[in-house]
Amino acid sequence: YRIAVFASGEGSNFQALAEAANAGKLGGAEIALLVCDKPSAPVVGRAERLGIPAFLFKPKDYDSREAYEREIVEKLEAHGVDLVVLAGYMRLLTHVIVEKYAGRLINIHPSLLPAFPGKDAIGQALAYGVKVSGVTVHFVDEGMDTGPIIAQAAIPIASGETSESFAEAVHAVERELYPEVVSWFAQGRVKLEGRQVTVSNF
Ligand code: GRF
Repeated sequence: YRIAVFASGEGSNFQALAEAANAGKLGGAEIALLVCDKPSAPVVGRAERLGIPAFLFKPKDYDSREAYEREIVEKLEAHGVDLVVLAGYMRLLTHVIVEKYAGRLINIHPSLLPAFPGKDAIGQALAYGVKVSGVTVHFVDEGMDTGPIIAQAAIPIASGETSESFAEAVHAVERELYPEVVSWFAQGRVKLEGRQVTVSNF
């Protein structure tokens, strides 16, 4: 079972997924490819150190989103990718990828959706003053963080919490939750019907 991770930045989730795969904790899945739209991002060095192939591109070298997404689809097919995992990929996808990978395309977002979609969800939650936020893993559609929800984990926001301390708590939860959800896919346990997602136990 082969996975592509799309990332634009730091890559802590990419790293956690790759380490889980190496430790045999990804349901037998393998990270086959990194797709990155920022060739200078730290995630690129992580992929090099882990020996994971990368497809790097600059969106402005293309006429449209569809044009670079068609090239990404070629790479995904060449690498035999079964599941596309977005991890800090800071772009909306078009129908080119969304339709091709329907039911096989997931994202992680640092809030309890549908609260605080979009950029800086952690800052949005702190500014709003909620006492609980968390992490959501969901299927991806063409909207901004709007697809069917697969798993969520709640994290309390302590008084005096800063965006730094809360971001650390969020990342710690993400490093556990995302590999677990990916392992469910590799084991064929996730079913999607309309907006309803069920995860079977064997
Ligand atoms: C994570 O907080 C994720 O939830 C959000 O972007 C961040 C990516 O962090 N979508 P990293 O690049 O995996 O370190």
